[in-house]
Amino acid sequence: MTRTTRKQPASPAAPAVPVLDPPTPDPFLSDRPVVPPGKPLIEVEDLHKSFGGLHVLRGITTTIKKGEVVVVIGPSGGGKSTFLRCLNLLETPTSGRIWFGGEEIVSGGSLQRDGTDRRLSHRARERNLNRYRSDMGMVFQRFNLFPHMTVIDNISMAPRMIRGVSREAAEKKAMELLERVGLPDKARAYPSQLSGGQMQRIAIARAMAMEPRVLLFDEPTSALDPEMVGEVLAVMQELAANHMTMVIVTHEMNFARDVADRVLFLEGGVILEEGPPSVIFENPSQPRTRDFLSKIIAGAPEASAK
Ligand SMILES: Nc1ncnc2c1ncn2[C@@H]1O[C@H](COP(=O)(O)OP(=O)(O)OP(=O)(O)O)[C@@H](O)[C@H]1O
Ligand SMILES: [Mg+2]
Repeated sequence: MTRTTRKQPASPAAPAVPVLDPPTPDPFLSDRPVVPPGKPLIEVEDLHKSFGGLHVLRGITTTIKKGEVVVVIGPSGGGKSTFLRCLNLLETPTSGRIWFGGEEIVSGGSLQRDGTDRRLSHRARERNLNRYRSDMGMVFQRFNLFPHMTVIDNISMAPRMIRGVSREAAEKKAMELLERVGLPDKARAYPSQLSGGQMQRIAIARAMAMEPRVLLFDEPTSALDPEMVGEVLAVMQELAANHMTMVIVTHEMNFARDVADRVLFLEGGVILEEGPPSVIFENPSQPRTRDFLSKIIAGAPEASAK
């Protein structure tokens, strides 16, 4: 049997031959529970969120599978942003449960989907919560790039600071991502030198740099001039084609129809209806869904009288 691990020199006189260890797996990434494609990556059970006396989310239950693209639509104030913010724990849910890769995130990963409790230390729970947050990349309506940093620094900073990736490796990865979003020539530019569409593509690259397991988008194109919407949607379309798991709040209904595996219609803090885009857009069962769609899409099914 041949040994492939580190060898001793044949004799003390033999020249030292550098023997490379196999690359150490990134503890940040290798720590993740494995979820096969098509299996639930995120499970949400009876999620509620109140702000003081305002009961915004009123019992959301749904499952997002690995590789699935879920589009969330619905009227203003219905709780779409709050839902996304609860998913990545920017907001703490008032009640309910969220499982990510089989671990309950509100409890910091100590509870397993099978009901067992791993009784993690406070520190381990904190570490798990931080991991969940970075497992869920988020792209906001406004680009949220750091204005005093170049594009490449914006993209490579979190992997360097949070995951301890070397500058060289983080910048190499950032350049690959810039190629992917079609902006390699902007690496040394500052955000103020970019158009809105370019900034949003950089924001997507930055979210991808942490190698998240799911990307959450909150109306990523609604602050853009119309001529820039397409370039951002094209990047998202490419991600979808490559089986990135995504939850997208958008009013771009043609895009939703094209990329969504499933559409959730959220109103009044509940999922009023969900299904494949062909059903939701062509033949929704709820009058409220019809009514909403008829207001924003020309040629959508007419709202039923009353
Ligand atoms: N931090 C907060 N404190 C108090 N109320 C909040 C907070 N965040 C959201 N809300 C309220 O919760 C409700 C739902 O807001 P949310 O932003 O989730 O709606 P939305 O569906 O994303 O709407 P839009 O389409 O306008 O973005 C609104 O009434 C909003 O005012
Ligand atoms: Mg919103």
